[in-house]
Amino acid sequence: MHLKPDKDAVLATILGALKEAAAPLSGEVLAAGLGLSRAAVWKRIHRLKALGYAIEGSPRRGYRLLGLPDKLLPAEITQGLKTRYLQGPIHHFETLPSTNDLAKELGSRNAPEGTLVVAESQSRGRGRLGRDWDSPPGLGLYVSLLLRPPLPPTEMPRITLTVAVAVVRALKRAAGVAPGIKWPNDLLVQGKKVGGILTEMETESDRIRHLVVGLGLNVNNREFPPPLHLTATSLALATGASFSRRLILQAWLEEFEALYDLFLNQDFAVILEEWRQYNVTLGRTVTVRQGPREISGLALEVAGDGALLIRQETGEIVRVTSGEIAPGPGTGPEAGNIVDTTSSFS
Ligand code: BTN
Repeated sequence: MHLKPDKDAVLATILGALKEAAAPLSGEVLAAGLGLSRAAVWKRIHRLKALGYAIEGSPRRGYRLLGLPDKLLPAEITQGLKTRYLQGPIHHFETLPSTNDLAKELGSRNAPEGTLVVAESQSRGRGRLGRDWDSPPGLGLYVSLLLRPPLPPTEMPRITLTVAVAVVRALKRAAGVAPGIKWPNDLLVQGKKVGGILTEMETESDRIRHLVVGLGLNVNNREFPPPLHLTATSLALATGASFSRRLILQAWLEEFEALYDLFLNQDFAVILEEWRQYNVTLGRTVTVRQGPREISGLALEVAGDGALLIRQETGEIVRVTSGEIAPGPGTGPEAGNIVDTTSSFS
């Protein structure tokens, strides 16, 4: 894949200087400070403008930053980000086929843990079970995080549950919205799907070589194409407000880092307890689809390895490690919250 990410260290320095400056900065001062020609500074200013930064330039007074673009540019994501080690490198693109695909490629090229791929839109965004993920420009979060846990592949489902807990925490904190989690990791608001997680890994003998956590969140979408509109929602549709994708992404990275530390410290039981608090699946009658196979019964519990335990009508308890909860009538006071959600993402 030959794609040029929007990154340039000088660009970030000029931007930082413009953000901090109380008064307009002359091209001459910027050029001298950076050891560049004025033409090189001018080129970067144009690049920043093309990225959406509102910069006023007057030949006598210099450059002044008037406004920031609503984009997930690396310089915006890192500003104020309080993570210790999940800090990038960040690769930002206007559009990509799929952030997960690029993150996986970077993973096989030895990119470090914490590498983040962010796109404003995706042309072939992928969901679980071979589905598409609707990824219109600038409205949602489409990000993939590269991890290198020193663990066996059997840990992957637990990491995915951990990611979902981090999303709930992040949305509570940065958007004031508390989604429910439908097993294994669909995020629901008012019974509709607001986000999903696609975890993919490459293994080497009995260990994870690298793992890519792909997060898709519908943030400021005001509409969805049919038939998605029946089952999908966004934070904006659910609340009537607009949200900063940057703050949500930062909160997710921060919350995930804290939970990932717990996870690596063998404290998954604590995370699972929190997952249970947010889940909307347990205690309900569900049908899990695994390709042509269907397993119906009462969703009893999520086991320590992330598997869903279902008690069938026969009384037999079945462990389910993959699949999706199918649309259909559920039982319980809020059954509508857990049905009819994933099927439209195809
Ligand atoms: C699901 O089916 O619920 C999972 C959806 C995951 C979508 C995200 S968007 C960013 C990343 N890149 C992809 O192609 N998919 C994931």
